[in-house]
Formats: sequence, structure tokens, C-alpha cells
Amino acid sequence: MKNLAVFASGTGTNFEAIAKACAEGVIDARVAVMVCDVPGAAVIAKAERYGVPTFVFAPKSYAGGKAAYEKEIVDLLDREKIDLVCLAGYMRIVGDVLLGAYGGRIINIHPSLLPAFRGAHAVEQAVAYGVKVYGITIHYVDAVLDGGKIIAQRAFEYDGNDPEEVHRIGQKIEHALYIETINKLISK
Ligand code: GAR
Repeated sequence: MKNLAVFASGTGTNFEAIAKACAEGVIDARVAVMVCDVPGAAVIAKAERYGVPTFVFAPKSYAGGKAAYEKEIVDLLDREKIDLVCLAGYMRIVGDVLLGAYGGRIINIHPSLLPAFRGAHAVEQAVAYGVKVYGITIHYVDAVLDGGKIIAQRAFEYDGNDPEEVHRIGQKIEHALYIETINKLISK
């Protein structure tokens, strides 16, 4: 059985969808660890509920910065024999240490049809622009923000101006697409 690591910074609905799919055998893998860079984030309690071990860290507490905490994360991923790292609302740029060790095995979900609307507020940017077709992208992570090779995309139409509604519609699509995509990747 394959070992997944899920990285998250906030609410963790994608984490929960993945953990539930693993627990129910919909994904033939286990979530071996949940990595979170925001102490107190809601995703931590969700991980505990699913019995998933957590590694929670405060980036600012590392004198050695990104290289130092990523070294700790790489050691953890090695120990847990992680096959695939799934970023699920991990709002931090992945650095050289993690990419050097796990590049090609790190994927991210992003709430826009990349390459449009990169960055932290993709849905708000898309609504402000007035687009009529929205979507979700899953891509490999490389050194460019939201820039790696695209693995999967799913679009939906929306003709309105309420970002919350777009988030609600997009979230359901994210969960389904992430589960499908993880299944495809781990069965390769
Ligand atoms: C998701 O919508 C994900 O696409 C987005 O953060 C949200 C996390 O939600 N990620 C990005 O914007 C990455 N650039 P969740 O904590 O409920 O899974």
C-alpha cells in the first residue's frame, strides 16, 4: 500500500476528503502524515479525528529558515517512506531542499484554470476579472509558483460575482478531482 503525506495550512477540507477516501478504501493508500505550518489550524483536529499523525511547525521558529524546516520534513518523509506528497491548501512556496528530495512526487491543487490566476487569492482574482468559466487544476510542484506540469483540470461555468459561491462550487469539484487524480498516480 502506498504512503501519502498531505500538507495543509488551514481548514483542511481537501485533507479530510483524502483521509476519508483512504479510510474507506476508495484510495488504495494511507495518509501516513499530515504536515501543517500553522499551529492551531483547523486541519490539525481533523487529522487527529482520522488518526493521522501530524507534524506541525512554526516556520518563524527556525533560525535556519526554509532550508532548516524542510530538512526536518524530508527526514520525516523518508522515515515514513512517502510515495506521494499532496499539497492541499499548503500556502507556502516549496523550497530547494524539499524539491531536491521529492521533486516529481509533489502535487498541488489550485482553485483556478492555470496558468490563469496564480497565487493565494485565485478565486477572488477570477471573480474580479469577470470570467465565466472557472475551474480547478492539479499540477506537479516545481520552483515556479503554481507553475509545474498540469496533471488534471476540471472546469465549471458560473455567471455571478460572489467569490464564496465559487468557493462552494469549486470545493466539491476539488475533492472529487483530487481523489481521482491520486488514484491514477498511485496506480501507475
Ligand atoms: C483549496 O481551495 C485549494 O485549492 C487552495 O486552498 C484551499 C484549501 O482548502 N489552494 C491554493 O490556493 C494554492 N495556491 P481546504 O483547507 O479546505 O482544503
